[in-house]
Amino acid sequence: MKILVITGSPHKHGTSAVLAENFINGAEEAGHEVCRFDSAFMNIHSCIACEKCHNTNTGCAFKDDMEKINPELISADMVVFITPIYYYGMTSQIRAVIDRFYANDALLHGNKKTALMVTMADDVKKTAAGAVASFEGMADFLGWEIVGTIIGVDCGDIPSLEKTDYREKSYNFGKNI
Ligand SMILES: Cc1cc2nc3c(=O)[nH]c(=O)nc-3n(C[C@H](O)[C@H](O)[C@H](O)COP(=O)(O)O)c2cc1C
Repeated sequence: MKILVITGSPHKHGTSAVLAENFINGAEEAGHEVCRFDSAFMNIHSCIACEKCHNTNTGCAFKDDMEKINPELISADMVVFITPIYYYGMTSQIRAVIDRFYANDALLHGNKKTALMVTMADDVKKTAAGAVASFEGMADFLGWEIVGTIIGVDCGDIPSLEKTDYREKSYNFGKNI
């Protein structure tokens, strides 16, 4: 399977990066092809709802790093979103990528698997409810099959993460897709 991983953290070596690395290791060991984009280190403009993408055949008004993501996104069999929770939602960096899916709605509908993996400081999964609802709504709208969700509570920093089993859970998730 061709798997696209999109991360949302500005921490190169943060808690969600640990989940991403372990998931990718497991998936690659299982024989999947993985492509990763770190949205926080890319130049991706917010959608401005100009509708140029839907009203013309010339695509998005912004010719930025979404042009690197789009071909991988369109051809992926599975799209995995890995982000910390910021104020009860996904980070603005990964949200910007998702909003820009708008330009390719028609090409993205159907026939993909998807998963969400998050980390956060809080110790209750309810804190991720907004991110999960947004993810589930998007998957439903695009007709993607949700194959996994990892909600990493008590993961405010690396020492806290190391006291949990999310490293192993992420690896096993990748290995067993
Ligand atoms: C702007 C900001 C908002 C945050 N909001 C929340 C929150 O609502 N709930 C929570 O449990 N943790 C929150 N956190 C903590 C992060 O989710 C947590 O530190 C996470 O491990 C960071 O992941 P990273 O190391 O991959 O960047 C917030 C952190 C920042 C910087």
